[in-house]
Amino acid sequence: MKIAAIRTYVLEHRLETAFESASMRFDRRVHLLVEVICEDGTTGWGECLGPAGPNRAMVEAYSAWLIGQNPLETEKIWATLYNALRDQGQRGVSVTALSGIDIALWDIKGKHLGQPVSMLLGGRIRERVQAYATGSFKRDGVDRIEDNAQETAQHVAAGFHAVKIKIGFDPKEDLRVIAAVREAIGPDTRLMIDANHGYDVIEAVRVGNAAAQYDIDWFEEPVVPEQLSAYREVRDRQPIPVAGGETWHTRWGFAGPLEQRCVDIAQPDLCGVGGFTEARRVADLASLHGVRVVPHVWGTAVQIAAALQFMSAMVPDPVRNRAIAPIMEFDRTHNPFRQAVVTQPIEHDHGWVSVPDAPGLGIEINRDALREFAPKG
Ligand code: NI
Ligand code: CA
Repeated sequence: MKIAAIRTYVLEHRLETAFESASMRFDRRVHLLVEVICEDGTTGWGECLGPAGPNRAMVEAYSAWLIGQNPLETEKIWATLYNALRDQGQRGVSVTALSGIDIALWDIKGKHLGQPVSMLLGGRIRERVQAYATGSFKRDGVDRIEDNAQETAQHVAAGFHAVKIKIGFDPKEDLRVIAAVREAIGPDTRLMIDANHGYDVIEAVRVGNAAAQYDIDWFEEPVVPEQLSAYREVRDRQPIPVAGGETWHTRWGFAGPLEQRCVDIAQPDLCGVGGFTEARRVADLASLHGVRVVPHVWGTAVQIAAALQFMSAMVPDPVRNRAIAPIMEFDRTHNPFRQAVVTQPIEHDHGWVSVPDAPGLGIEINRDALREFAPKG
């Protein structure tokens, strides 16, 4: 079996209402899919987290090392591609691009062997995963407090057991949002807060201490991801468990945060950390340090399928009679191509999402949608 070609697909949708996290403004949804095509006609699909243009350029740069390789040799290919750019590309787009390629190779491997990726990773420990609703960005032209309270109440009504809201804009206003959302969702729904590294240590410590009374599951990305000692300080000086990791890449990127106990919850992104190949190693590292893993998910059904395959195979830590079940991030913001890219949408049913059981990622790509959402002009 040999790789014959690599293709990339940019998907784009201009938003009717722009929204913001603490650190980013979204006026469009843009994502990049990767297709790896084999000589025998087998194709595999992957997705890269982050900016589509740079990811696309980097995937194309890797093609020279991929054509002619055996796609089943995922470890060998990962090491070859990583090493090709190691001296200049240990983090960042070089790894997010490699992630999309690695996911496509595992999709091919599963299709070739007639097994879902979860089985190749060691077995389907669970057939469905409970999802939490991510949303509550700052939308243009509306009152943030009222808007977030309304939105999260809708997620609860739709069956979600947990919601995550965006903070990191302004500590005082953020605390009013947290209070309003807790009021709106009632005492029994789990609530997480995500600052998208918008705070400095002083603000994060203040917000964490003041927000603890609202029963917060975790405090995500309180400070910028490079500041490991600041992370540690936030964890030490306020009571809410700290989460982070969507921008930490590879086992080396996670080693420092784990060794220094910066987080209680590690959030590797399959499409950013280095694909299935590297996410496994990061999960093993987290287990070594007693840190919980909750993958970050922000993409199309390709990424959702990858996360589901991975989470299906995650071994409970600790193994016990009523094990801690992993929960999956489920983006609820507007994105018309999120599910359109697959022939069978991966939707939730009262907050639960089934793990596809067809070979590979378990999805079939809808090529009409790739054309429909291709950037115009
Ligand atoms: Ni729209
Ligand atoms: Ca986040």
